[in-house]
Amino acid sequence: MSDYSSKNPYLGEMIDKKLITHPDSTKETRHICFDLGKSGLEYKVGDALGIIPHNPPELVSDLIGLLNFSNDEVVETHLGEATIEEALTNHYEVHRLSKKFIQGLEGKFSDSGPKVSLRLVGRSRKYAHTGESKLQWNWSGEKDDYPAEFSPVGSADDPALILWESLVNNPDSMEDYIWSRDYIDLLSDMPNLSFTPQEFVTNLDRLKPRLYSIASSPDAHPGEVELTVAIVRYNHHGRDRGGLCTVYMADHAPLNEMCVPMFMSPTRSFILPKDGDTDIIMVGPGTGIAPFRAFLEQREFDKSKGRNWLFFGDRTSTHDYLYENELNDWKESGLLTKLDLAWSRMADIPKTYVQNLMAKHGEELWSWIEGGAYFYVCGDKFRMAKDVHQTLIDIAVEHGGMSPEDAKEFVEKRMMKEEKRYLRDVY
Ligand SMILES: Cc1cc2nc3c(=O)[nH]c(=O)nc-3n(C[C@H](O)[C@H](O)[C@H](O)COP(=O)(O)OP(=O)(O)OC[C@H]3O[C@@H](n4cnc5c(N)ncnc54)[C@H](O)[C@@H]3O)c2cc1C
Ligand SMILES: NC(=O)c1ccc[n+]([C@@H]2O[C@H](COP(=O)([O-])OP(=O)(O)OC[C@H]3O[C@@H](n4cnc5c(N)ncnc54)[C@H](OP(=O)(O)O)[C@@H]3O)[C@@H](O)[C@H]2O)c1
Repeated sequence: MSDYSSKNPYLGEMIDKKLITHPDSTKETRHICFDLGKSGLEYKVGDALGIIPHNPPELVSDLIGLLNFSNDEVVETHLGEATIEEALTNHYEVHRLSKKFIQGLEGKFSDSGPKVSLRLVGRSRKYAHTGESKLQWNWSGEKDDYPAEFSPVGSADDPALILWESLVNNPDSMEDYIWSRDYIDLLSDMPNLSFTPQEFVTNLDRLKPRLYSIASSPDAHPGEVELTVAIVRYNHHGRDRGGLCTVYMADHAPLNEMCVPMFMSPTRSFILPKDGDTDIIMVGPGTGIAPFRAFLEQREFDKSKGRNWLFFGDRTSTHDYLYENELNDWKESGLLTKLDLAWSRMADIPKTYVQNLMAKHGEELWSWIEGGAYFYVCGDKFRMAKDVHQTLIDIAVEHGGMSPEDAKEFVEKRMMKEEKRYLRDVY
């Protein structure tokens, strides 16, 4: 056992981050492995690993340059005193705008001109990767000499004020604005705003750990923990951006150094049946495969006699078949009794989702459920898990001869709550 937690994370060593989608795939999914060293960290299949990322160094450096701060100015944060560089790197999320930050700009605008105590005389953007510094605007400091990009803060024609009012008065505009922008975009849209380092950090979102379903069995990989991670990347307003933690793991966390802050997040419910003779049905498209790879490794290690049925799916069989060799080997060895694959973006076959295959094999699936099989779902919470849930109810109607109300009660009350054999790990 160890004392590591989200507040006191272990610094783990990433030993692999291999791409498991095809290089030409429209997705980037990686199999990421960590050595647990002498941490004493333990886990069981079904648990999740928490990772505490940091913001990309170039983004922090660009932001500090744009704000005219120096790296070593000290601010008070929820984690105590820190330099502004440390705070923007490790304590706050700066890769996406926070609504609270925009709402908190209210004090920056007033009818009588600038309220801020600092007077900016220019803003240049420094590009960390090239070292180049580009002047965005400068100002002599005289009232009648405002640069063209610059209006007095809070004046009626101040574009910053007009934009800010449009955001705080319309929740849809706010969501739309923050969805694709970060603080560099905000400072470019509101070039006349200035901040002290303390003012800037006050309304930022605190940096949060991200959880990942563990994709390995500790018995099959002693001393290691493995993940299946979909890297979130997108381009908005001419700049490449991405998810904080996935891009951190893919691009910034170095291999073979003990430096990735992590902790275990154990589950009490998403567990294998105690009796290894019990059959299990696993539905896990995309990264939802992760805990099921771990389950299968564990059932193989334990020599469990129960049957294993996996529904997996992703965009294409050629580019997105995660763990293809392992799954085929398990199918061949008989560990996987049944493997059903749903491809959603193949040119030559109609879009197929995992629940379509569940429905297609509804009669057999129902016979497994009637025989006491556990039913597991992992992956996208908002679309997939809802549709899979409804499909399970529909199967109970069609093959269990139940009314829709009884089928709903059977699935939601009996299987989920009383028998605890319908288990979900959805996000
Ligand atoms: C229990 C649990 C288990 C999980 N297991 C896994 C797992 O096994 N594998 C896995 O990959 N993930 C898993 N996740 C999700 C994971 O925790 C992260 O949420 C995910 O990796 C994204 O984190 P991020 O920091 O990279 O992205 P963030 O910086 O948090 O950003 C993600 C957000 O970006 C936004 N976004 C996405 N696309 C765009 C776009 N084009 N434009 C603008 N914004 C966009 C979305 O709103 C999304 O919510 C799990 C989550 C939970 C709660
Ligand atoms: N930033 C991005 O561009 C981006 C891209 C992908 C995923 N993500 C996010 O990244 C996380 C992990 O992604 P992932 O790889 O696990 O999975 P995913 O890309 O969301 O989906 C995996 C498979 O599930 C399919 N699917 C979509 N809707 C479904 C539904 N209603 N029922 C059943 N299957 C459905 C997808 O088909 P389709 O061909 O219809 O998509 C795809 O074949 C998720 O949280 C997801 O929201 C973000």
